[in-house]
Parts: sequence; C-alpha cells; structure tokens
Amino acid sequence: MGSMTQSCAVVTGGGRNIGQAIALRLQQDGYRVIALDIVEPEADSLRADARIVDLSDRAAAEAVFAEIAGALPVTCLVNNVGIVAPASFDEVDIGDFDRLMHLNVRTAIIAAKALVPVMRRSGGGRIVMNTSRVTLGKQARTLYSATKGAMQSMARTWALELGKDGITVNCVAPGPIGTTAFWKNNAPDSDYTMDLVRSIPVGRIGTAEDVANAVSFFCDSRSGFVTGQTLFVCGGVTVG
Ligand SMILES: NC(=O)c1ccc[n+]([C@@H]2O[C@H](COP(=O)([O-])OP(=O)(O)OC[C@H]3O[C@@H](n4cnc5c(N)ncnc54)[C@H](O)[C@@H]3O)[C@@H](O)[C@H]2O)c1
Repeated sequence: MGSMTQSCAVVTGGGRNIGQAIALRLQQDGYRVIALDIVEPEADSLRADARIVDLSDRAAAEAVFAEIAGALPVTCLVNNVGIVAPASFDEVDIGDFDRLMHLNVRTAIIAAKALVPVMRRSGGGRIVMNTSRVTLGKQARTLYSATKGAMQSMARTWALELGKDGITVNCVAPGPIGTTAFWKNNAPDSDYTMDLVRSIPVGRIGTAEDVANAVSFFCDSRSGFVTGQTLFVCGGVTVG
C-alpha cells in the first residue's frame, strides 16, 4: 500500500477458480501475491511465490502463516478458502462440522493473527473475507451458512478492533458464480439450480473476475474509509 518495497497480498485458496482470479487481479493491482492452496496454482505468474499447504491442518496452517509473516511485508489478506457440504436439514452430518469450521473459519483467524502484526508495522492493511449470499439463507446449506455467517460477523468485530491501526476488514458475498465448485454443489439438471440461474436479474451467472473486481476495490489503498461492510456480488439475486 504505497510504500517503496512492493506490498504483499496473501490469498487463501488462491490456486483455482475465484481465489486464483483474485490473486491475478491483485498482481495487476501491483501486489506481490502469495497464493496458498492445497494444489499448485494453474497460472504461471503465481507459482514462484505460492505455498502448497493443507490449510485444514492447524499446525501446517500456523507454520505457513508464521513463515510468511516473518519474511514478507504483507498488507493484504484475502480469506477466500472455503468448502461446502451440501445437505438438507435432515441429512446434515455433524461429522462435517469440524471440517467446514476448521477450513473456512479457523484458517481466517490463524491467518489474521499472524498477519495483522505485520500490517500494523506497515501502518495499515486490508482484510477481505470471501463469504457468500448464503448468509441470507439458502436451502441445503446448514453448515456452510454457519461458517460464512461466522466469517461475516467476525469481520465486523475485527473492523471495530483494527480500525485504529489503519486496517479495514470487509466481506465480498458472491451469489452464483459459475465455477466447478458451484456446478458440483448445485446439480446442473435440478429444477432448483436452473430456476436460480434463470432468475438472476442481470441475466447471467457470475464469473470469478466479477468477484475479484469487488475484492480489488476493498484492497485498494484509497478504500480506507470503508470497513465492516459486505458487498453482495450476486447479479441482483439478493434484491427482492
Ligand atoms: N462458486 C460460487 O458460486 C461461490 C458463491 C459464493 C461464495 N463462494 C466462495 O468463494 C470461495 C472460492 O470458491 P470457488 O467456487 O472458487 O471454490 P473452489 O473449490 O474452486 O476453490 C477453493 C480453493 O481452495 C482450495 N482448497 C480446498 N481445500 C483446501 C485446503 N484444505 N487447503 C488449502 N486449499 C484448499 C482449492 O484447491 C481451491 O483452489 C469459497 O470460499 C466459496 O465458499 C463461491
């Protein structure tokens, strides 16, 4: 954010789909980007700085964020990694609770705990959570919506606590984005999915770049008066 050394941005789940689009966009915006993922990024420009790590493993996650915090001037963190366990209310498997909470929510806390001190030393920073419109309610998303609601309310709490340090904390809440994960969790042949896609007010499903554009706004050094907010990137599906 405006210093002589190139600022670094960390993007969790930055090796594929939405996370990768965010990582590439932040590179275009001038950040050196560290993508953390369980797989190597597809994009050549992300490979050299990427870290391959299973973020659901607490010790591995703590180690990788400590290593990054000790080595790089990180001023931007995008908590993007997230998985879904679709299940109707009656089918919810409590065995999935820890898996989703650990990857989706605990990772964000581990990352912020490690990187906020680095941001403070730089005089400020940006944290963005990739949540979801499921925070408003969506069928068959009990555990997933619980994780995304947790991230969203945590962002508001952190916005209050970290504002005085020049660190903003905001959420981007995507609606339907046509990634492989979307089509895996929303059966393409189901009436529900097709009704949903047909009813998107702007007349198309979203792209990873649509989400990246919103993240880019929150990560901009000029966005310092915007904190604790959620921006729905949903083609209008959350309206009416
Ligand atoms: N696709 C949508 O319609 C949509 C809508 C709303 C919110 N989101 C959110 O956007 C984010 C990205 O979604 P996506 O559709 O790109 O999903 P995705 O599954 O394609 O991407 C998730 C990324 O996280 C990585 N990952 C998975 N498990 C990991 C682990 N244990 N350790 C490290 N990395 C791991 C994957 O390899 C992948 O690169 C998620 O948080 C998701 O909840 C997506």
